[in-house]
Amino acid sequence: MSNSPLLVTCGLPYTNGPCHIGHLRTYVPADFYVRYLRHTGNEVVFICGSDNHGTPIVISAEQNGTTPRELSEKFSEHFDSTFRRMNVLFDRFGMTDDPTNHNRTKEIVQSLIDNGYVYEKTISQSYCPNCEMFLPDRYVEGVCPYCGEQARGDECDQGCGKHLEPGEIKNPVCKVCGGKAELREQEHFFFKLGEFSDFLESFLPNLGGTTNARNYALGWVKEGLHDWCITRTLDWGVKFPGHDDLVVYVWVDAPIGYMSFTEEWARMTGGDWEQFWKGDQPIIHFIGQDIIYHHCVFWPAILKGAGYKTPDAVVASGMVKIDDKTFSKTRGYVIWTNDDYLDQGLPADYLRYYLLSYTSHTKELNFSWQIFQDRINNELVDTLGNFLYRTLHFAANKLGGIPAMEPETEILSEISRVLESVDYEMNRYEFKNAIDAMMGLAGFGNSYIQNNAPWKLIKEDRIAAEQVIRNCLQIAKAATLLFDALLPEEAQKSWEMLGYTDHVKEHAIDDALVGFEHSDLPKPSIIFAKIENETREQLEIIMNKRIGAAKMKEETPKSEQITIDEFARVDLRVGKILSAEKVEGSRNLLKLQVTIGDEERQIVSGISDRYEPEELIGTNIIVCVNLKPAKIFGIESRGMLLAAGEEASLLVPKRDVEPGSRVC
Ligand code: MSP
Ligand code: ZN
Repeated sequence: MSNSPLLVTCGLPYTNGPCHIGHLRTYVPADFYVRYLRHTGNEVVFICGSDNHGTPIVISAEQNGTTPRELSEKFSEHFDSTFRRMNVLFDRFGMTDDPTNHNRTKEIVQSLIDNGYVYEKTISQSYCPNCEMFLPDRYVEGVCPYCGEQARGDECDQGCGKHLEPGEIKNPVCKVCGGKAELREQEHFFFKLGEFSDFLESFLPNLGGTTNARNYALGWVKEGLHDWCITRTLDWGVKFPGHDDLVVYVWVDAPIGYMSFTEEWARMTGGDWEQFWKGDQPIIHFIGQDIIYHHCVFWPAILKGAGYKTPDAVVASGMVKIDDKTFSKTRGYVIWTNDDYLDQGLPADYLRYYLLSYTSHTKELNFSWQIFQDRINNELVDTLGNFLYRTLHFAANKLGGIPAMEPETEILSEISRVLESVDYEMNRYEFKNAIDAMMGLAGFGNSYIQNNAPWKLIKEDRIAAEQVIRNCLQIAKAATLLFDALLPEEAQKSWEMLGYTDHVKEHAIDDALVGFEHSDLPKPSIIFAKIENETREQLEIIMNKRIGAAKMKEETPKSEQITIDEFARVDLRVGKILSAEKVEGSRNLLKLQVTIGDEERQIVSGISDRYEPEELIGTNIIVCVNLKPAKIFGIESRGMLLAAGEEASLLVPKRDVEPGSRVC
């Protein structure tokens, strides 16, 4: 790899919810790649930040009784600290709502205007007459004009996946009040994306990164590009130059964040941001497959149109699934990075290992706790951990340290072969293959020590046994250096057990072929602990509970909205239970006499499997008194008492009130 400084960025997380392992498939591989680049002598600037604008964040803030800025600060900090816990370390983690990005976005939009790539056009847009507002993006729901599925205002999320332009959605409904939206005309600004077709057709075949990014994008360009509406009627966002009632669409200012955060990094460190964005130094974007369009079509066109350098590579991961089901926060198919993983005491490096080694980067990745346990135990514990421990234990306990001799050439050539193959795979973003090669070296070491049995050999030929262990120690050093990018915490422990007192991350990967200058070894300990069955079962229970709860929620559908007048038609009163008896022959019916002030009512209720008649007498409850009388089990019932949930828990007034009091 080259020595020039490189810029590596990661897709910016939205600030309306916590970090989950779907997110991590962007950040962990990028961090692995950056650490590897640094090990191979490259200077890298590693940039990320949070994406604060757009309607989901405004809606989420409204729902939580906070402001979009406050919500964004909270989740920005959350992501920053979660990434650190995962050993993902950025040189700068910014916010798109900070002044640097407002300024840079305005400058870029102004350049696009000056260069003739923006035009004004009157469009019909969803408007809610009840809320008296235009309904941008997520403020409106309806039917996809392309496939007929239920869709969100800006994308057909359940059907064909197409991006929807303002006004395109059919049968629009306001998400705030649930009322029918209408179309109203409004002036908006459009970006002439269509004019960039020729540029993109020549740019994309030369774009580095993964083939999925290139190929999807080329396909879209060949299908024909539509101009993009780049303004929204919203307060929250970057103001469109000269129009205080409009902000730019979030997908304009979000990728510009990559540039702004590089500027902020430069300001902090005295570095040079223009070498990447105006000069020749490479820019590599790590993203998930869901946002290829924005990064390979829209973003290069914006940069080109505004006179900046375009990205050199886009590395797009496949999506993460949970238990072979599509990732879904609402349906419970999600693993939260803190709650479900780190806070359960599981090591960050184990999850890094799973995310990078299980499938090729561009393929879907299925996560399950069973696979997690199997892979950690079979590979990290039994192969890598076992080899390191056997070697270090024998050297420290039986030989008193590192034998003073050189490793044999066949060992050095095996290490060289692995170094080459790791480098080859890293250069083409085949992270799984790179890790397989590393693990292959540990496997080689295991067979080597097994076949040469130094514990037997030492009895006949001490020198020969020392040579075997010396060879194994070289393999252990090489494996530690190689695995450092992937498992930074655990590799550092292994490095120290090899007798080093400095940081493994500061060593070039080629040190794998260099011998030791010291001979002392500390007492080794086990590096990788097994995941026990009980632990796995606990983790599965947490997940299954969440999926169960989500199912329950789905089965109780949200009801239609009613007016206060409609609600007032239901006459709810406090009633006091005077007597209660079981209805003979019924499974769970109780016959109650209830006073509601000046009147006594007989009510039949299905709660005898939950309450003994005696415990109810004298209890104040809530009764719907204007329900039409009915015969239940042949007994007249005049009214209905209110109870909640599976438990049929009776609703009772918190303070003492007179029977007959109105409930509202
Ligand atoms: N804010 C945009 C990105 C703007 S970049 C200028 C966004 N945010 S996100 O929070 O939804 O996702 C952040 C990163 O995580 C993205 O790279 C996205 O592709 C990735 N993933 C989020 N969920 C994912 C999965 N379930 N699976 C794999 N990656 C996914 O998109
Ligand atoms: Zn409305």
